[in-house]
Amino acid sequence: MSKNIESHQIEDRVFLPADEFSRKARISSLAQYKKLYKESMEKPGVFWGREAKELLWHKPWSKVLEWKAPFAKWFVGGKLNVAENCVDRHACGERANKAAIIFEGEPGDKRVITYAQLRRDVCRFANVLVNNGIKSGDRVLIYMPMIPEAAIAMLACARIGAVHSVVFGGFSADSIVDRLEDSGATTIITADGGWRRGKIIPLKENVDSAMEKFTHIRKVIVYQRCGNPVIMAPGRDVWWHEESVKVSSTHKAKYFDSEHPLFILYTSGSTGKPKGILHTSGGYLTGTYTSFKYVFDIREEDVYWCTADVGWITGHSYIVYGPLANGATQVMYEGAPNQPDFGRFWKIIEENGVSIFYTAPTAIRAFIKAGDHFPANYDLSSLRLLGSVGEPINPEAWMWYHQKIGGGRCPIVDTWWQTETGSIMITPLPGCTPLKPGTATLPFFGVDAAILDETGRECKANEGGKLVIRKPWPAMTRTIYGDKARYKKTYWSDYEGIYTAGDGARCDKAGNFWIVGRIDDVLNVSGHRLGTAEVESSLVSHPAVAESAVVGRPDEIKGQGVVAFVTLKESHSPSEALRKELRDHVGKSIGAIAKPDAVYFAPALPKTRSGKIMRRLLKELVSTGDISGNITTLDDITVLANLKASMTS
Ligand code: WT7
Repeated sequence: MSKNIESHQIEDRVFLPADEFSRKARISSLAQYKKLYKESMEKPGVFWGREAKELLWHKPWSKVLEWKAPFAKWFVGGKLNVAENCVDRHACGERANKAAIIFEGEPGDKRVITYAQLRRDVCRFANVLVNNGIKSGDRVLIYMPMIPEAAIAMLACARIGAVHSVVFGGFSADSIVDRLEDSGATTIITADGGWRRGKIIPLKENVDSAMEKFTHIRKVIVYQRCGNPVIMAPGRDVWWHEESVKVSSTHKAKYFDSEHPLFILYTSGSTGKPKGILHTSGGYLTGTYTSFKYVFDIREEDVYWCTADVGWITGHSYIVYGPLANGATQVMYEGAPNQPDFGRFWKIIEENGVSIFYTAPTAIRAFIKAGDHFPANYDLSSLRLLGSVGEPINPEAWMWYHQKIGGGRCPIVDTWWQTETGSIMITPLPGCTPLKPGTATLPFFGVDAAILDETGRECKANEGGKLVIRKPWPAMTRTIYGDKARYKKTYWSDYEGIYTAGDGARCDKAGNFWIVGRIDDVLNVSGHRLGTAEVESSLVSHPAVAESAVVGRPDEIKGQGVVAFVTLKESHSPSEALRKELRDHVGKSIGAIAKPDAVYFAPALPKTRSGKIMRRLLKELVSTGDISGNITTLDDITVLANLKASMTS
């Protein structure tokens, strides 16, 4: 049996919600959280049934859950229309003229779309899809920039029961081909281009290259965003705006089974072909609706902004389905955070009075690197709540976010979840959970999270192990599209009937969950198993460091030695003295065992397009001196040459 993951991180800063925040919050005390949590564990049917009833059902369900591990059915027998829940429900009542989406393009163009307008847009586009021969159950690939039409296309698919598969607009033609082949989609919705860092991303051109390899596409619907020249294949390619004028802006919704597939979203995984994570309708909508309501404690007057792309699960669950099911007002921004400079996000917050802001640690670290003067130039007093998702947030990045963006007054919800979980799983509730920088804190309602060792025993407090979920939850993935065996093997084979997330974690005495990194990345130094997150956080807590990635390198004596790649803040430069200082810093804050054998100064770290550090590539680099592994998900290939150079300087 291999040993458990050790933990050396001590964090004793605690932040309690302000009284005023708590008083107004839906969940205003830990006692109230515990009571509801207990109900959600002991009587999931009662808890989730009550939540689901806040949505619009055409036909009620007969049973809340049918569980034949690892296959779940939620709200069995119920029928609903997901798009009607996200749009029509608000477009009829008091929210009809409320802004659903406040859009800002990268060049500065602005549009406000009300719920009534969104209904007309979604209905019209649903008619366009029907007119172009798309039926319920058909798979539709969406490859769009971050513009309202991306959400409209998703909702129009949902409205007619077509299954969307959004491919992130930053992905290449090859990624499109893989996803077309796996999903069997025969329709693509795209745009001529999208704006990114002042340039046009040629989306339609990429689609054209993909179709040289994949020839089964019947229709390509093209939205005109940038006006760049594109080639339209007669009979196959049609313009969104030309199709739209042929149809009406009303559409009668049909109703679909609660388990009707809603979308497939591909996650890369470190090896093998991408996994098509399948999500269905009633459970997914209930899960995203409920979590959005409680985690962001959404109010009628809030202006919410999630900076993710609709191409990721965060965009699906917390830009499209969760917020719209709640009738929220949100900002949507097309472009890069540093266009024209690192003040862009803060300018958008000031101009739109954003009150809830949800972003990723990678973005926060980029802002820290760029310097404090950018946020300091803007009025951020409209903010009342901040969120983080995607990676463990290093305590020092948390503190910076709390002080420089939140002005010390906004709670931070550090939300742990995955493409597969569909909705937020471990998270503070902002009106009641005591916050500690670096932990996603407590399980959300209905989430039976635990840490198990290799034998399946539950770990003691602060003992590291595998993060698992022991009960089904409404927004969980139903399977990997077309590959049940892989679904079972990947997520359900470590322990009988239990979902394994693939993350290492520990739980402290107060029940807070600390993610220590992906299980595959855990270091093994002289028989001590260390998560990457703690060593990285120790480095980031040094005033010169903006970001770091830590990996193991084969070592004859220790098994593995620790190697650290470090990106400095703009205001600092590399030196031998600093190298030694950083090693000592880790030694002091964690212990000699974690002290890096080597510290390399890298101008940038290799990341996926969604901003996650690709430790796999660094591991290969430090053990073989080169990188030959799969780099298709790598955001910026030029970082590799710089990394190699950093190892010899
Ligand atoms: C993996 C899932 C969830 C939407 C975006 C990513 C890591 C995510 C946190 C967090 C620590 C986190 C985990 C997880 N992760 N959020 N708050 N703290 N780690 O979705 O691409 O499916 O990635 O991201 O390692 O397993 P994804």
